[in-house]
Amino acid sequence: MIVLDKEHNVFTLHTQNTTYQMKADQYSVLLHTYYGPRVSGGDLSYLIQYADRGSSPNPNEAGHRRDYSLDTLPQEYSTCGVGDYRMPSIEFEPEDGSRLADLRFAGCELRKGKYSLEGLPAFWGGDEWETLVVRLRDGSAGMLVELYYGVLERYDLITRAVRVVNQGTSPVRLRRCASLCLDFLGGDYDLITFDGCHVMERCPNRAPLRQGVQSVESVRGTSSHHHNPFVVLCEHGAGEDYGLCYGAALVYSGNFLAAAERTQLEHNRLLLGINPYHFCWTLAPGEAFTAPEAALVCSPCGFGQMSRQFHRAIRENLIHDPLQGRRRPVLINNWEATEFSFNADKLVSIAQSAAPLDIELFVMDDGWFGSRDSDRGGLGDWVVNREKLPGGLEALVPRIKELGMSFGIWIEPEMVSEDSDLYRAHPDWALGVPGRPHTRGRSQLTLDFSRREVREHIYQAIRKVLDSADVSYVKWDMNRSLTDVWSGALPADRQGEVFHRYILGVYELLDRMRRDYPDMLIEGCTGGGGRFDAGMLYYTPQIWCSDNTDAIDRLRIQYGTSFCYPVSAMGAHVSAVPNGQTARTVSMETRGVVAMSGTFGYEMDLNETTPEEREIIKGQVAFFKAHYDLIQRGDYYRLTDPFREGPCAAWEQVSPDRREALVSLVTGSAHAAPPFSVLRLKGLDPCLTYQINGQGAYPGDVLMEAGWPLPMLQGDYQSMQLYLSAV
Ligand code: DGJ
Repeated sequence: MIVLDKEHNVFTLHTQNTTYQMKADQYSVLLHTYYGPRVSGGDLSYLIQYADRGSSPNPNEAGHRRDYSLDTLPQEYSTCGVGDYRMPSIEFEPEDGSRLADLRFAGCELRKGKYSLEGLPAFWGGDEWETLVVRLRDGSAGMLVELYYGVLERYDLITRAVRVVNQGTSPVRLRRCASLCLDFLGGDYDLITFDGCHVMERCPNRAPLRQGVQSVESVRGTSSHHHNPFVVLCEHGAGEDYGLCYGAALVYSGNFLAAAERTQLEHNRLLLGINPYHFCWTLAPGEAFTAPEAALVCSPCGFGQMSRQFHRAIRENLIHDPLQGRRRPVLINNWEATEFSFNADKLVSIAQSAAPLDIELFVMDDGWFGSRDSDRGGLGDWVVNREKLPGGLEALVPRIKELGMSFGIWIEPEMVSEDSDLYRAHPDWALGVPGRPHTRGRSQLTLDFSRREVREHIYQAIRKVLDSADVSYVKWDMNRSLTDVWSGALPADRQGEVFHRYILGVYELLDRMRRDYPDMLIEGCTGGGGRFDAGMLYYTPQIWCSDNTDAIDRLRIQYGTSFCYPVSAMGAHVSAVPNGQTARTVSMETRGVVAMSGTFGYEMDLNETTPEEREIIKGQVAFFKAHYDLIQRGDYYRLTDPFREGPCAAWEQVSPDRREALVSLVTGSAHAAPPFSVLRLKGLDPCLTYQINGQGAYPGDVLMEAGWPLPMLQGDYQSMQLYLSAV
């Protein structure tokens, strides 16, 4: 619910459990007054203290009043060059070269429903949303800044976006435009970021804020394996089930900056948005720029509740699910089994080994097109390689379908190999500065997706392939970070637009594909999890979580990922052992338990499994299908932290009516004489009694408070699942 007190210019956003408030004061400065657990309302600006601080200047209207400074007051959207020395949200440069942004309140408007952002992904929905638009103006520069707020009460979700309009008579260069600025009066906070590298993405890192700025960012053109555009600010003492925390996710897949600043007054500011690095957008008179959306969830009771609210909102109000809630197929992918060396018979034999195990979708990965026999060539030539697949998809797909399976295909539209017909014909279509040698990544170059004709050519070629057979799934890959970022289509003074225009181009093509093939499931992938963000999830309901398929490393990767993103979004497969990344051998049971807390599939040649393993796989597929709703749409509880030494990694899914739950656990390396341990379950109905794996009768409150004794499993990396059903 949004409450506008227009007399006092106090604007309050209520969700089910939280309240957010701002106020335009006597100088029309928009102050942030509160964000936290739900309160009844009123004007919370009494919380703001005014004091003269040396070196903190005073705006002109304040006259000689020295206790009023933008440097010390909590700002709703911070300005620059006029007295606030903390991190600015916006910077623009009119023709005179000045860099001042002095924003004052210029009106607001309440709308039913959710705003949308042209060309950008954003949360969506109907009348369960309300929108507030607050207008700020810098009169001298003729700049209008519109702050958008979307409120989804039931999931405690508040979205924000920013639109900047040049209302002046000459061009203005926009150099910075954050999506979110959040000021907190006082408080001792930790910042949690989700960091790592290729094959070890999204590992949580927690550190207390100290005076100054702490930040994570990407300048790679993707949101990156290295830092995620999702961060958490929380009270020092906050944990899974207690303490105040704020999660902030950027709905964007390109360069980002997430920064937290602790100030001289021990106030805190969080900023999230497009990275100002190599960003400069020219706005001609009348033109507008829209910054991507940021989404906030505040949880007064720990990270678990915050994550569950994000999961629900992402599943129901961000992802476009082509299957409309129907079960997604269990798949088999040939990549780890064959890499580039396969032919039609090999693919069919892998599918033949999977079909009797009730695996439903066969995915042909990289290597099926052009002269693609290694990662050195072929990208850009989206025509079937007739040596490997003599009759094209027209011959291959019916052979897969005869097995009762559907067919999916891998593509990497944003890339080009130097050894390709496309590059030979259009070398200037690759990002690169004329006269400079290219920087390669995985031996390939990046196409200039900011250019319409490049996107059009690629899309038409891919369409031909998709239309040549019955294709129900596409894996959209992207295997390098951007370098040589320069576009032949833009003049020198607009090269600062290329990074953002590139990702807008990716979004445009994804959106076209999504609309042209409404029943097709698109899985995102960026060399594993290099673009695992809310922006991609809008177009691709699932994203390959990591190129690391080792079940034990995956415990950590999937744990970190779960802080914002739901199980149904996490691409996870069982692969062969010893694992290609870690050389570790883990049982088929454990690999299955870990992969089925994701989208679930296999990525190996099942012809090479033993009859016992095939029985296990059959059981896993049947179990997953039987409990699909619980696993994919249940409420997710992290029971342990796999980054800490402990008896096991454990997590739990609980059905919305709390009548069913699934506890999964994986032990670590074995020790002699292990201590007795108990696992406390979560999220059950304290008044219900549950059977565990069809046995006994255990009251919910007992299982949550007293717990369940961990069985002494012998050997390294053993696993177990407890299925609870109310009796
Ligand atoms: C990287 C992906 O993450 C892998 O799953 C696989 O598709 C390869 N690319 C293919 O080149």
